[in-house]
Amino acid sequence: MSSGRLAQRHVLVTGGGGGIGLAIAKACLEEGARVSVVDRAAQASAGVGELQAGKADTLHYLSADVTRQQDIDRLLRDSVQRFGPVHTLVNNAAVFELAPLLEADADSFDRLFAVNVKGMFFVMQAVLRHMRDAGSEGASVINLASQAGRRGEALVAHYCATKAAVISYTQSAALAMAPHGIRVNAISPGVVDTPMWSQVDAQFARYEGLVLGEKKRQVGLAVPLGRMGTPQDIAGAAVFLASDEARYITAQTLNVDGGNVMS
Ligand SMILES: NC(=O)c1ccc[n+]([C@@H]2O[C@H](COP(=O)([O-])OP(=O)(O)OC[C@H]3O[C@@H](n4cnc5c(N)ncnc54)[C@H](O)[C@@H]3O)[C@@H](O)[C@H]2O)c1
Repeated sequence: MSSGRLAQRHVLVTGGGGGIGLAIAKACLEEGARVSVVDRAAQASAGVGELQAGKADTLHYLSADVTRQQDIDRLLRDSVQRFGPVHTLVNNAAVFELAPLLEADADSFDRLFAVNVKGMFFVMQAVLRHMRDAGSEGASVINLASQAGRRGEALVAHYCATKAAVISYTQSAALAMAPHGIRVNAISPGVVDTPMWSQVDAQFARYEGLVLGEKKRQVGLAVPLGRMGTPQDIAGAAVFLASDEARYITAQTLNVDGGNVMS
């Protein structure tokens, strides 16, 4: 049920073509925001298309690759031109790969760090400069970290390291931007049933000799609340952090994981 908590706000969501990003875009629209959705596909996904139906005045799609600085400049310019100053950045685009530590190679390192760390940081930097210059009231950034950034995993070393970097950059950026009244926080999901997790499941199946779907079943059962998260579970936290209800919260990484990580 919408209460218009994000009325008059412009929210920019990277990696919003599916999964958690799409759910956040939808929840922000329902709270009254105008939403710019960015993803790397040339055309909007079916999910974005459905959201757009009848809402072209409050939702638009931009194709951009967050690893390319010229794309970052363009996505910011085009979204501001369309919906005005950005109030909230949801820095969500990321990729996942796993391999046993002794086989984790440099190509995989480059692919993961290019999107999850370099892309995340330079999108954030560009949007923070814009927010500072625009002086947007209530501006904030929400980076998508992960429980993987809280604790290493033998098969997931590169990805875990990228998400630890997201937590660290969130803290540094929060301190740098606090004098400008701009908040920077992160959300740390646990295991969430999205297209990314289908890929994770398939990769674990290969390395751990499991049948498809078994890893998902296991991780869901291991969550204290007894199930994997849904993208909507994460979207609620994002709306809260973007809203004025969170006006005194900055530099935090909020665990939204059914109790997996305690802090
Ligand atoms: N699903 C989980 O269990 C889980 C857990 C912890 C953290 N997370 C994090 O939450 C975020 C969303 O995850 P998800 O599960 O919805 O993933 P997903 O793979 O379903 O969606 C990620 C989106 O990012 C886009 N993307 C990837 N590279 C891009 C690039 N270079 N430029 C632009 N867009 C790009 C993809 O096209 C995709 O639409 C990610 O940051 C992920 O690391 C997910």
